This record gives sequence, C-alpha cells and structure tokens, in this order.
Amino acid sequence: MATERTLSIIKPDAVAKNAIGEIYTRFEKAGLKIVAAKMMHLSREKAEGFYAEHKERPFFGDLVGFMISGPVMVQTLEGEDAIAKNRDLMGATNPKEAEPGTIRADFAESIDANAVHGSDAPASAEREIAYFFTNDEICPR
Ligand code: TYD
Ligand code: MG
Repeated sequence: MATERTLSIIKPDAVAKNAIGEIYTRFEKAGLKIVAAKMMHLSREKAEGFYAEHKERPFFGDLVGFMISGPVMVQTLEGEDAIAKNRDLMGATNPKEAEPGTIRADFAESIDANAVHGSDAPASAEREIAYFFTNDEICPR
C-alpha cells in the first residue's frame, strides 16, 4: 500500500468535549502522522464549500449550522493507506452503527454531531487538503 494523505476534521462537538488529544493519540497509535494542523472557526461560506457535494441533501442546512457552531481542528494525516485507515478509526457515519472502539462510537452522540470528518477517496482527499492547506503549510516527515 502506498503512502497517502487524508484530510481529517475534529468537529465542534468533539472539540467542545476537550477530546482533541485523545483523538490525536488514536491517529498516532495507528501510524498516521499529523503533517499539518490548524484550529479554525469556519465561516458559513467555508463550511458550505467544503460540503458542496451534499448541498441538495435534506440535512445540508443543519450540517453547515453544526459545523460553524464552534471551532474545529483541521489536520492532514499521512501514512500507509491513510484514507481507509482513518475511515476505519472513525467508524460508521451514524455513531449508533459504529463499531465499538471507533472514534464515533466513543465520542459522538448522533449522526448530525458525529465528532470527526475523514476524506473518503484519493480525489476527495486531494481536494479537501487543498481546501484548507497551502503546500508550504504541510510538513512531510
Ligand atoms: P457523509 O459524507 O455521508 O458521511 P461521512 O462523514 O461518514 O463521510 O455525510 C457527511 C456528514 O453529513 C455526516 O458526517 C453527517 C451529516 N449527515 C447527516 O446529518 N445526516 C445524514 O443522514 C447523513 C448521511 C449525513
Ligand atoms: Mg463523507
């Protein structure tokens, strides 16, 4: 498996729970390196652009409202098979269906406040990383 990069967001609910460190520990124990990171309070426009693929879905307005309800922690993760590995660590979109021991099972309350985002494919990872980070903000190591 090749080394990949993926975009991760710790969402406002998990930041409010003071869970950034516990979630970072899970990334690092799984062999994913944090190669870029920033805390941000997203504007509505920035959140809408990030989730543009969902703009026709009925939950879009609530999703954007949630994502701008408090600060988020945004990071680029690097490692072997990073995209799938991060999705495995996250668990299912609906925390009620997430495997025990996954981030969403342990930190999320509901499908609309589900603790973390992770890119789902190489093309979305490339787009999402570039949406938040310039090349010189990423530190390969
Ligand atoms: P999606 O990309 O399907 O999930 P994932 O985050 O696992 O890639 O959906 C994006 C976000 O939209 C999801 O994390 C939470 C929200 N959402 C809802 O609020 N209700 C829903 O029914 C779905 C499918 C998603
Ligand atoms: Mg998704």
